[in-house]
Amino acid sequence: MRFKQLTINNLRCFEQIELTLGPKTTLIWGGNGTGKTTLLEALSLAALGKSFISNKTQDIVKKGALGVSIKAIIEDEGLDESTIIVRKTKKSTEILIDQQVCKKASFLAQRIPTVIVNSRAANLLTEGPSNRRALIDRTMFHVEPEYVTVWKAYSRALRQRNESLRNGRFGKLHGEWDELLVELGSSIDRSRQEIVSEINKSLAGDALKEVFGPLMLKYFPGWSKETGYRAHLCASRERDQNLGYTSVGVHRADVSFHAPHGAIAPELSRGQAKFLVCGVLLSLADFITSKTAKNPVILVDDLAAELDDRLIQLAMEGFGKQKGQTVFTAIREEELLGFSHDIEKVFHAEQLHKRCPH
Ligand SMILES: Nc1ncnc2c1ncn2[C@@H]1O[C@H](COP(=O)(O)OP(=O)(O)OP(=O)(O)O)[C@@H](O)[C@H]1O
Ligand SMILES: [Mg+2]
Repeated sequence: MRFKQLTINNLRCFEQIELTLGPKTTLIWGGNGTGKTTLLEALSLAALGKSFISNKTQDIVKKGALGVSIKAIIEDEGLDESTIIVRKTKKSTEILIDQQVCKKASFLAQRIPTVIVNSRAANLLTEGPSNRRALIDRTMFHVEPEYVTVWKAYSRALRQRNESLRNGRFGKLHGEWDELLVELGSSIDRSRQEIVSEINKSLAGDALKEVFGPLMLKYFPGWSKETGYRAHLCASRERDQNLGYTSVGVHRADVSFHAPHGAIAPELSRGQAKFLVCGVLLSLADFITSKTAKNPVILVDDLAAELDDRLIQLAMEGFGKQKGQTVFTAIREEELLGFSHDIEKVFHAEQLHKRCPH
C-alpha cells in the first residue's frame, strides 16, 4: 500500500495543495513552521482518520476555515487504486473510501497500516507507560480486526468495574466483572506478548545490537506473573475498593528495555533513545508486514534532530530496508540526502506554499 497523490484543503498553514509522492521514498524539507510536520499530519489523517499531533479539530483546521479535508489516492500491492477522503469539522468526522461511507476509523487503519516516528519519539522510553501500551495496541489495530473489538470491550468493562468500586455496588457483582476482565484481558495479553517476542527476535540481529550491545524488551503484563491474572485480581478486591479503581490488569501493563546490567532507559541520551525507538518502530513495521502481507507507510518527522551522522546513517539503512513507502522531513535538504540514494521525490516546503492559490 502506498500513497500516490494527496490533496489537502484547510489544514493548518495550507489552504489548498496537491502533491504526488515518490513510490518508495519522499523527502520534504524546509525551515521551521513551513508545514513539514503538517504534511505528515495530512497523511496520518488519510491513513488513520486522525492527526498524530492533536485530537482537537479546531487546532488543525486552518484559521478562518470551517473544516479540513484530505483526499488521498492510494495504490495497493496489486496496483488497484482507491480514493480516501477524510473530512473533519468541529462537529463531525466523515471518512469515505471510494465514495462509500466508512463508519470506523479502525477499518481505515487496517487498510493503510502506518508507522509514525514523530519528534517526540525519544520520550517514549522515559514518559509514563500509557504511550508504550498505546504503541503496541495501535500496532495490533493494524493487524487484527478482532483486537479493536476486544480492546473496546475491555475498556468498557474496566470503566464499569471502576464505577461499581466507587458507588458501593461492587460487592454483589465482583465475580462477573472479574471474569469478564480476565477473559478479555488475557486475549489482549496474548497479542501483546506476541509483539514483544517479535521485537526481541529483531533486537538480536540488527543495528540496535551494534550500538547498544545485547538488549531485551521485558514485558510486564499488569499483574504478578507468579500469582497469575485471575488470582491477583481477586486478591486485590479489597485494595481496589479502598483505591476506587482497578489496580490489576492489562491497563497497567508496561515494557522496558534491559541490557545485561539492568534497565537501560534512564541512562540513554536523547539521541540514543530516539535511535532505539526508531529500531523498535521498524520492528513493529516488520511485524505488521509479517501478519498482513502489507508494507506499512512510514512517516518520519525530523529524523536528523538529535542524531549524529553515524546514527542517521544506521537509521536510514534501517528505513531503506523497508519495502513500504517512507516519507521523511528535514530542516535542510542535505541532512538526509547525503545518507540515502533512494530518495525519489524531494519537496521544498516553502515552494509548496507558492503552489497554493493564495
Ligand atoms: N490552525 C492553524 N491555522 C493556520 N496556521 C496554523 C494552524 N496551526 C498551525 N499553523 C501554522 O502552520 C505551520 C505548521 O507548521 P509545522 O508544524 O508543519 O512546521 P514544520 O515545518 O514542521 O516546522 P518545524 O521544523 O519547526 O517542526 C506553522 O507555521 C504554524 O504557525
Ligand atoms: Mg515539524
